[in-house]
Amino acid sequence: MESVIKTYDISREYIEYPSFFKRIRGEGSRIIVAVDNLNISVHRGELFGFLGPNGAGKTTTIKMLSTLLLPTKGTATILGNDILKAPNEVRKRISVVFGGERGLYWRLSGRDNMRIFAELYGLDSSERMDRIDMLLELVGIADRADSKVETYSKGMKQRLHLARGLVHDPDILFLDEPTLGLDPTIAHELRKTIRNLCTREKKTVFLTTHYMFEADELCDRVAIIHRGTLIANDTPENLKRQFGTVTPVTILLRGVVPQVEHVLTSRKGVHYVESGIQDNTTKLKVGLDQDKVCVEDIVSLLEKTHEIISVEQGSPTLEDVFLELTRS
Ligand SMILES: Nc1ncnc2c1ncn2[C@@H]1O[C@H](COP(=O)(O)OP(=O)(O)OP(=O)(O)O)[C@@H](O)[C@H]1O
Ligand SMILES: [Mg+2]
Repeated sequence: MESVIKTYDISREYIEYPSFFKRIRGEGSRIIVAVDNLNISVHRGELFGFLGPNGAGKTTTIKMLSTLLLPTKGTATILGNDILKAPNEVRKRISVVFGGERGLYWRLSGRDNMRIFAELYGLDSSERMDRIDMLLELVGIADRADSKVETYSKGMKQRLHLARGLVHDPDILFLDEPTLGLDPTIAHELRKTIRNLCTREKKTVFLTTHYMFEADELCDRVAIIHRGTLIANDTPENLKRQFGTVTPVTILLRGVVPQVEHVLTSRKGVHYVESGIQDNTTKLKVGLDQDKVCVEDIVSLLEKTHEIISVEQGSPTLEDVFLELTRS
């Protein structure tokens, strides 16, 4: 399979100073290793998820791959072009869309924003209008294209960002938390649009997200990084099979039972316990390592003091895998 993104021990360190004056004097510096010898490869047409806790190095990696930031060591190729030797070639073939609301002209309409970006990319005027119409349609904001951006909802702005990112018809899109802060319905719609970019438009998408179900639903493969280091890289299915040692179990107890989780947290094999109260029942979510403790043990322990309404055993989710791998 053709690798359109390939990294070679790519690394980035930042030097941090405790204050502005110490920076000027060059005193008290501290090195932060944001990305540490990362080796990944992304195939053409793939929707690749890049996951990791806050500060893991995701945005830093995207910035390096998109030539916004130089690596301190190693390199990468984008469609065969080295990011250090041929940054201009790389820039022509990629696009970066950061989540959030910045980077648009709020006083202008969505269509006028698109015109500006199309002009910046040097699209000739005959193809410009058709392409803009097509992209606004593709991301689903054609009906509001002539309203000012300041009247757009968050989801619409995010869609416009995506349309803007597609103006010069890039082969690869880097999306940094594209569904951040969107309501579930809008996020769902946007995910469909992103999926279509790969299946219909044959784009390669490199995406970061903190929503594990999103990565599970959307991505062909995911890489998980922790403190700048790659710790897993496979399809969501394989990762769940390989690392999903924690089985989520939902137990419903009659009545409001405060602090019931204390009975379970110290038990061997119990990875986590969460509780919530609804309609005079207490819902417990327990993560069990079934090699060390079985569901029956937990049930009989709880039965001694509480009335159990139901027990439901789920299968490990990508979130369980993520929590397990990034715990230390
Ligand atoms: N300009 C900078 N100067 C100093 N340190 C930085 C700078 N940018 C990022 N870092 C540090 O590098 C590490 C990685 O940051 P990065 O933004 O890449 O993480 P991330 O995975 O995108 O996190 P998040 O999920 O919170 O967006 C963090 O420790 C961060 O504090
Ligand atoms: Mg980030």
